[in-house]
Amino acid sequence: MIFRQLFDTTSSTHTYLIASRLGGEALLVDPVLEHTDRYVQLAQELELQLVLAVDTHLHADHITGIGELREKTGCLTAMGDMTQAECLSARFGDGENLKLDGVDIRAIYTPGHTDDSYSFVLPDRVLTGDTLLIRGTGRTDFQNGNAGDQYDSLFGRLLKLPEETLVYPAHDYNGMTVSTIGEEKRHNPRLQVADRAEYIALMNGLVLSDPKMMDVAVPANRKCGLARAA
Ligand SMILES: [Fe+2]
Repeated sequence: MIFRQLFDTTSSTHTYLIASRLGGEALLVDPVLEHTDRYVQLAQELELQLVLAVDTHLHADHITGIGELREKTGCLTAMGDMTQAECLSARFGDGENLKLDGVDIRAIYTPGHTDDSYSFVLPDRVLTGDTLLIRGTGRTDFQNGNAGDQYDSLFGRLLKLPEETLVYPAHDYNGMTVSTIGEEKRHNPRLQVADRAEYIALMNGLVLSDPKMMDVAVPANRKCGLARAA
């Protein structure tokens, strides 16, 4: 498998390029608008055909590149069935496999950070969006976020994956790139709670300022990043 982790320094976003082999079909997860040329060039260098660009959820901190990638390459764009984005080729539901030649990748619904958040499970790894971060979890205080739902997504779904499963989040603010489910179970401070109520109290007690780009990014991302400001 080809698996490339890319990084946007402005928003600390990780973007992933996935394909089964050189010359095969490729998927981009959480592309950032400013870097679409870089993704297209990398795909060309690896002789990949970009067929699909997806977002784990409607981002509030950067503008998505999925719309521009569709315009540049003709790839499909997709997000989960709960999303408010109005510009998609397709939506996937819980448990649905994404269509990518030679790669087994399953979408699972993991709400909490937002009500449209999905994670993507591959045989040995999981892309967790902003549901599970390395030594953290995504905030739950806007975009229909819900700390109780996030607890259920974490403890009921993601942490039930095998402990050796590699964890690739959509963001990292501390220079981390990959973890495992077992490592996060043991060392993620947000996961050291006794029960659901304690997790909700922990999350609801956080005092966070809005992301700098939120007022621009959310309306733009409803249009797949093709209209930058509403
Ligand atoms: Fe997010």
